[in-house]
Amino acid sequence: MVVTNTNQLGETIDSTYDRKAEKKAFDDSKAGVRGLVESGVTKIPRMFHAGKLDVIETSPSHTKLSIPIIDLKDIHSNPALHTQVMGKIRSACHEWGFFQVINHGIPISVLDEMIGGIRRFHEQDAEVRKEFYTRDLKKKVLYYSNISLYSDQPVNWRDTFGFGVAPDPAKPEEIPSVCRDIVIEYSKKIRDLGFTMFELLSEALGLNPSYLKELNCAEGLFILGHYYPACPEPELTMGTTKHTDSNFMTLLLQDQLGGLQVLHQNQWVNVPPVHGALVVNIGDLLQLITNDKFVSVYHRVLSQNTGPRISVASFFVNSHDPVEGTSKMYGPIKELLSEENPPIYRDTTLKEFLAYYYAKGLDGNSSLDPFRV
Ligand code: OGA
Ligand code: NI
Repeated sequence: MVVTNTNQLGETIDSTYDRKAEKKAFDDSKAGVRGLVESGVTKIPRMFHAGKLDVIETSPSHTKLSIPIIDLKDIHSNPALHTQVMGKIRSACHEWGFFQVINHGIPISVLDEMIGGIRRFHEQDAEVRKEFYTRDLKKKVLYYSNISLYSDQPVNWRDTFGFGVAPDPAKPEEIPSVCRDIVIEYSKKIRDLGFTMFELLSEALGLNPSYLKELNCAEGLFILGHYYPACPEPELTMGTTKHTDSNFMTLLLQDQLGGLQVLHQNQWVNVPPVHGALVVNIGDLLQLITNDKFVSVYHRVLSQNTGPRISVASFFVNSHDPVEGTSKMYGPIKELLSEENPPIYRDTTLKEFLAYYYAKGLDGNSSLDPFRV
């Protein structure tokens, strides 16, 4: 047979291939990508093929640039150091939208144990982890592979275990026993660090330290523990497709494997693992309310033939309180505006913004565009 047709991903069109059925069978297994690896696959199923769009962009970058590493040691006792660190945070948030923090106050043993706990969850017997498998986002404890599996986005080589921390925490007995204690300890510590980071971000903007907290930016928190199994054909698929985060700020813990990249000046720059560090990344909503003083940038995770890679992303959001949470208006902060700095965005509700972000999916376009004035 002569093949003449290709689709937009550059794949040959094969009318006998039923993508939907392949996804459904995968979903019904409730065992995630890890389940495929356990079954011994040496070729990745076709639904994971990212196509030429991603492959072109996967060409290695030769940049020597690196996201800033900011040391928070003694900033509360040494005023000169405090001022210096504020300057570093301000420029990191403006130029990169990403930085790493060290000496942030969370013991390294807690970080390491959290990675271990997430790994234990994903490596439990399939029969046990299946019990948690769901696509019902109202649940406070979730296990799934690819939240938008059935959309037309490429499927990623990644599984996720997620849980709510605030305002509506998962009950201790709902958290799987293999990781319960460390999940509770980590959640508490990361929430406190989140409050501290929002104080530092407020100050870096020249605002009162409690400013962003009073806008409820740190009120809601949910945590996703990702598991990226070793991939037999890493050149064909992504661990996480290029995207921006929709929220205010994310604190990311990654293990030593690497693979996370940020798009900076049109180049993909690696975020090298630093043991004991946490990656801070600015989300779309913080870009909107800071009127582009802080930027939310594209990032992605490559798949690799070594693994598993484990990461823990803590998303700070407004509380999704049905009364006030989603109807609250957000727009550029008045104190940051002037004649030279007029508002770039219109005011919007969280409900409108998040509805747009989720409907759009991880398609590589900015979710802020429709909100520009
Ligand atoms: C995310 C994310 C990166 C990682 O969960 O939004 O970008 O390293 N994760 O897993
Ligand atoms: Ni992200």
